[in-house]
Amino acid sequence: MPKCSGSITIAVMPKDVQTGAVDLSGEKIHWKPSGGLSYGSYLNLEQLLSAQKPLSECPDEMLFIVIHQVTELWMKLTLHELTGVLRQIQSDELNPAFKMLARVARIQGQLILSWDVLSTMTPLDFMSFRDQLLQSSGFQSYQYRTLEFMLGNKNKELIEVHREEPEIYARLKKTLEAPSIYDETVRVLARRGFDIPKDRVERDWSEPYEPHADVEAAWLEVYRDVETHWDLYELAEKLVDLEHKFQQWRFAHMKTVERIIGHKRGTGGTSGVSYLQKALGLQFFPELWSVRTAI
Ligand code: HEM
Repeated sequence: MPKCSGSITIAVMPKDVQTGAVDLSGEKIHWKPSGGLSYGSYLNLEQLLSAQKPLSECPDEMLFIVIHQVTELWMKLTLHELTGVLRQIQSDELNPAFKMLARVARIQGQLILSWDVLSTMTPLDFMSFRDQLLQSSGFQSYQYRTLEFMLGNKNKELIEVHREEPEIYARLKKTLEAPSIYDETVRVLARRGFDIPKDRVERDWSEPYEPHADVEAAWLEVYRDVETHWDLYELAEKLVDLEHKFQQWRFAHMKTVERIIGHKRGTGGTSGVSYLQKALGLQFFPELWSVRTAI
């Protein structure tokens, strides 16, 4: 029977490979950056890197904190981009909005991948520090709620968890009461002459959007003649892409949670995985999905 090990040959290092330190001679390095700014001070690294404060001595708590913080940072950039998208759509400048939506899609790609890192945490690892979290939960992420409100999941009950934080509460309420990206998109359809019901162009924006057959019919017209309506077609596809990726994030979160805590109740007080499964049914841009059946 052949042995499993192959023969070993000693490779000689090619001549152009260097080991040890990079030769810095000839480089004009700013050893003492002047002007009062360095990499660390520009990025506020002291503050950023001292914001990880585990409550236990369990080694895996650091991963748990970092992954949440990284997600919050990506959400911050996403909100920044989406605020721009909203403004551009309001002023009928769709091309600049596409550039920002493309960036948002890449960020979402990063966020979806991040579950791979978190899934290296076993149930035992997590249970070693879970009690320290008390009642804190991602459910209280106000950036996540802002994102949902901006995209169109107008569930006013959800801001109540921020009642004790007046500034955050006021900001969330403002976003809740403003048109979402989809509301603004439907208004663009109206401005372009599509037959959109009046109560979809002006309404109480804090209420959930109700799908309407006329809006689906307008999208159908767009899809049936993409050459005439190319930018609306592109906007529709970019929004579907955004929602698709949002769903992928939600699904990966739910599955990671199931893998780590099974069907235990969440620290935020919900039923846990069953709650997260319900959230999978939410849709931001309903007619953009239903029109696909009609195409
Ligand atoms: C061990 C890892 C994690 C577990 C066990 C976990 C568990 C849960 C549970 C059970 C909920 C439902 C609310 C509750 O009752 O607490 C929830 C919600 C949530 N989690 Fe996580 N989570 C984890 C990681 C993360 C990470 C890394 C993020 C990134 C920020 C995150 C963000 C959220 C958000 C935004 C919600 C609200 C979702 C919604 O209301 O639709 N979670 N999580």
